[in-house]
Amino acid sequence: MTQHILVTGGFGFIGSNYIRHLLETTDGDTLITNLDHVTYAANPENLADIDTDPRYEFVHGDIADSRAVEKAWSKEVDIVVNFAAESHVDRSIESSEAFIRTNVLGTQVLLETARSRGVKLFLQVSTDEVYGSLPLDTQDVFLEDTPIAPNSPYAASKAGADLLVQSYFETHGFPTSITRCSNNYGPYQYPEKLIPLFVTNALDGHALPLYGQGINIRDWIHVTDHCRAIQAVVEHGTPGEVFNIGSRNERNNLDVARAILAATDADESLITYVTDRPGHDLRYAIDPAKLEQHTDWKPLIDFEEGLTQTVAWYRDNRTWWERVRSGAFREYYDRRYGAIHE
Ligand code: NAD
Ligand code: TYD
Repeated sequence: MTQHILVTGGFGFIGSNYIRHLLETTDGDTLITNLDHVTYAANPENLADIDTDPRYEFVHGDIADSRAVEKAWSKEVDIVVNFAAESHVDRSIESSEAFIRTNVLGTQVLLETARSRGVKLFLQVSTDEVYGSLPLDTQDVFLEDTPIAPNSPYAASKAGADLLVQSYFETHGFPTSITRCSNNYGPYQYPEKLIPLFVTNALDGHALPLYGQGINIRDWIHVTDHCRAIQAVVEHGTPGEVFNIGSRNERNNLDVARAILAATDADESLITYVTDRPGHDLRYAIDPAKLEQHTDWKPLIDFEEGLTQTVAWYRDNRTWWERVRSGAFREYYDRRYGAIHE
């Protein structure tokens, strides 16, 4: 039976990996529409190789604009997977407006259209950052019922969207799922985020700007394991529920920087300590046991192996990131990191 999946934000890092994963793992009966506003973080090149696949179509539009969202419903939609978001914490500290518009209002507009049209599932791609920060020196982890306590404007906007999605399930009986994943890394990630920024800087012999003392801990998962987990929730999740996604891989930022320097044969002297991020969450740690028990999903890519593959991808795809870094990114980088001697 044909199923039509509407993926929003499909030109971004995780959305493009997810679309490629879907095309690789489903047959001709799965049709995909990618609704993307093509913001600075989008890159149509991420999907250039599948552009002519008859199972795939792109619709240009803003999820916060109901007329644009309607365009994505040229045929009945079975499943919505909402990746579209402003996703970078540092940018949300500079200015939060776009975060509220896309992440909160956009989710509301998408929910409303999906509800009026009728879908089998609305999957909201959320983040562990909605749970706030854990202390450094404990074994505490985020569970699905850990209270929401976001600290950055980005996390607050994602938490707002989660609450709205949950309200549509409770109020309207609308079929929703929420996934909350830890920090992703892998190919096609915009180089403003820690791992691609440090890998591309290290490959060019530029400084790696480490915030504060580099002691903050993140829980890293390879993007392919995240995409597989989303698909497991699409196929086997229970409506109205939240599923945490992670691969039990906590590292502090200094250790990640050192691993990147080792993988790129770059010198430790590139590490440059810079002013800390305001409100910088100390530690994230996800417990994905619920998803593992509900489905046959488990993370498959170990961090050392995944990082080696990721560094190889950036080494082999220099044209991709040099082009990205020359445009809007350059302006952002100079504004944010201009004081660092490269
Ligand atoms: P990204 O910034 O790489 O891509 C975002 C995509 O959304 C871009 O293609 C952009 O053009 C599109 N977009 C932005 N505003 C839009 C709008 N108003 N209408 C339509 N499209 C719009 O993001 P990412 O890192 O791929 O993250 C995708 C999702 O996963 C986000 O919802 C994010 O909160 C969540 N998430 C990310 C991570 C991570 O580590 N990157 C971890 C957990 C969850
Ligand atoms: P980031 O990739 O922005 O993800 P998030 O803030 O959503 O977790 O940052 C990951 C960690 O790396 C976070 O603790 C902040 C830190 N960081 C730096 O030390 N330097 C940088 O230049 C960046 C972008 C991040």
